[in-house]
Amino acid sequence: SEVYRAGLSGSKPAVPVDPAALERAARKATTAEAFAYLAGGAGSESTMAANRAAFDRWRIWPRVLRDVSHRDLSIELLGRRRSTPFLLAPIGVAELAHPDADTAVGRAAAALDVPYVLSNQASRSMEEVTAEMGDASRWFQLYWSSYDELNESFVRRAEACGCEAIVVTLDTHLLGWRARDLDAAFLPFSRGQGIAQYTSDPVFADLVRDRVAASGAAPGAAGAGSRPRITPTLLVSALSIARAGARSPLVDGGIREALRSPLPRAAIETFLDVFADPGLTWDDLGNLREWTGLPILLKGVMHPSDAARALDAGVDGIVVSNHGGRQIDGSVASLEALPAVLERVGGRVPVVLDSGVRGGADAFKALALGASAVGIGRPYAYGLAVAGAEGVREVVRNHIAELDLTMALAGRRSIEEIGRDSLAASE
Ligand code: FNR
Repeated sequence: SEVYRAGLSGSKPAVPVDPAALERAARKATTAEAFAYLAGGAGSESTMAANRAAFDRWRIWPRVLRDVSHRDLSIELLGRRRSTPFLLAPIGVAELAHPDADTAVGRAAAALDVPYVLSNQASRSMEEVTAEMGDASRWFQLYWSSYDELNESFVRRAEACGCEAIVVTLDTHLLGWRARDLDAAFLPFSRGQGIAQYTSDPVFADLVRDRVAASGAAPGAAGAGSRPRITPTLLVSALSIARAGARSPLVDGGIREALRSPLPRAAIETFLDVFADPGLTWDDLGNLREWTGLPILLKGVMHPSDAARALDAGVDGIVVSNHGGRQIDGSVASLEALPAVLERVGGRVPVVLDSGVRGGADAFKALALGASAVGIGRPYAYGLAVAGAEGVREVVRNHIAELDLTMALAGRRSIEEIGRDSLAASE
């Protein structure tokens, strides 16, 4: 009703409400490379299509005359009452969408009381986003590095930043076969983007310093102090100048020299080496418990046997996700995987779903199947691209409003009332 009322006075929303129109607007607002990274999926992108198709296979079964004049969208999750069942899924390299990047998302999440899962591949450090979010709810997503001290450092920083939970993403120990990015030969990380959690980390800085020293570079190449100061801006400009052959007349000679130091190259190479660990097994996760008392969730669990294993490992929650179809082409759809995982988990820990959610009616279906909460991914990144923090806020608010309206029209007053009997299967 807010949108219609604003329409009476001639104003329009900042971002399109229709998901396809939102995606088109984001395409217009970004470079071709950035949009390919944000929107693309693995291989033929059949998993992305499957994620959507899985939602279509369930139909909402409405009930009438149930006095739905008041609805309550709140849920209990990880020991806290939350005003909606939504989360903002971790999205790396948000600066490809908008220069305000993660700080804009943090501001929007805080305004709406929706927990924001800060990405390990963020464009802004967790400390910067924390400063923006005040007391608002945030979690930290970890990619398990092959360098254990770095994992420990990230987890301890997240705890110091007031993150409420650690989400370990398990489906990206290698990057998926992303045709759009391969065709553009574009990997944001190798251009120094999306590595702000690393460049702000003391353990990472030590690794880079050792690498610079081992390269035989002149003493001092790693910076004046004992620990190099590596900023994402320095990396990005150094690498782009290196690519341009350092010929630009706009670049002052002194700066050019500084930027050509071995430091940026060493930082990128160190990141690529420590980013993830394909050798990771269940046994390795044990350390996490020693580093933190925060709840631990595993993201990217799709198989019921892995869900059972996760319970044995004592995790506090599971995120059923196929990374928005960005990792395996031809994977089981996320919503399709949900019922078997839920059955195995048997209500012992919360199960969050993401991948393919494009509005409140989708969220309704996931909740009806038994998800405890629902993650929004690409849509908020598109909102960010189109209109910064305001765009993210509108996209998330639209999800909340559509869920609220769907509940009312389906005759459900609370999230608890959205049960399996709210759905019919359609083949
Ligand atoms: C992601 N996702 C992701 N997941 C994660 O654990 N860490 C990350 O850094 C990222 N980065 C990232 C970047 C971009 C551009 C996208 C689109 C996705 C996956 C994300 O958390 C979530 O699982 C998916 O976005 C859900 O799928 P949909 O709803 O976007 O299709």
